[in-house]
Amino acid sequence: MLIHNNERFIVNNEFAKEVESGLNDKQKHISPKFFYDKKGSKLFEEICKQPEYYLNRTESQILKNSVDKILKIIGDEEISLVELGNGNSLKTRILLEPMLAGIKNVFYFPIDVSLKMLKKSISNLFSEYSNLKIYGVCSDYVTGLVKINHFIKSKKNIPKRKFIIFLGSSIGNFDPKEAQIFLSSISRYVKKNDLLLIGIDLEKDKSILDRAYNDKNGITAKFNLNVLSRINKELDGEFKLSNFEHESFYNTSKHRIEMHLISKIDQQVRIRSIGKTFQFKKGETIHTENSYKYSLNRLEKLVDRSGLQVVKNFVDPNKQYTLILLKKILNTAKS
Ligand code: AVI
Repeated sequence: MLIHNNERFIVNNEFAKEVESGLNDKQKHISPKFFYDKKGSKLFEEICKQPEYYLNRTESQILKNSVDKILKIIGDEEISLVELGNGNSLKTRILLEPMLAGIKNVFYFPIDVSLKMLKKSISNLFSEYSNLKIYGVCSDYVTGLVKINHFIKSKKNIPKRKFIIFLGSSIGNFDPKEAQIFLSSISRYVKKNDLLLIGIDLEKDKSILDRAYNDKNGITAKFNLNVLSRINKELDGEFKLSNFEHESFYNTSKHRIEMHLISKIDQQVRIRSIGKTFQFKKGETIHTENSYKYSLNRLEKLVDRSGLQVVKNFVDPNKQYTLILLKKILNTAKS
């Protein structure tokens, strides 16, 4: 929400606040969560189709190849499938179909911050699977999980056991400390017999990673630059996109892809709804995203510190990506 009076604005919105503080920092930055407006979400879908961006394709392949093994571990006991950030639920279908065929009572709880996305995917799933019971939860993941636990507890016919999935290597967009805090919070709401499946991109040759985030068709570049269009549109900004350039590279020592927008010239940019002008030196960057890559070793340490343990790792033959199946470490009487 924005209330304005000529050039004097009262800014009451998360986007404006974060952009202002991010552009005031020494190393300018904008959070990657702001990539995903309508255009950004479309561009991300396009990225997933690029030959260099192997992540989504590889994850789907692992899921298809491992679904029987995963379901064998789950067993045929009734289950509540909880998905953190379901997007368009495309990959969920790989799991849902055999689950519906082999398990009597399946409930599906997608959690997403975008109500629009949630409504769209729920109505698509409803029309495809008549025997699926769906309850969408519009919230952040941890709050959503707490709500689902309460809901499951309060209703008789809903399966108590949960199978939580977090796909797409989204956990890679947290830094390792944040990832550990996130997994620890999730593990607090995981019960003894629940299972958790997480998709994570593995560390690999720098050249493969550099290519994945610099596709030849320039879709990742458009995706990155779109955040400036969004500032122009939503915050009345005056960014000239042609004065910035996409940069993305694997930072080997930090185990992460870094995405930046480089200023091609010395320039100043006014953002009217913030009521400020920001200076950019030629070559200065706005850091827009980190995408952490894990070795299996570092991944197991992360999981272990979060109160979880590995049930099984499903890795593709080229060791590019893993789907890691986890359960809670039971070390308290309460769990
Ligand atoms: C959503 N996330 C897992 C993607 C990634 O690979 O970190 C976002 C992305 N950024 C550039 N390309 C894709």
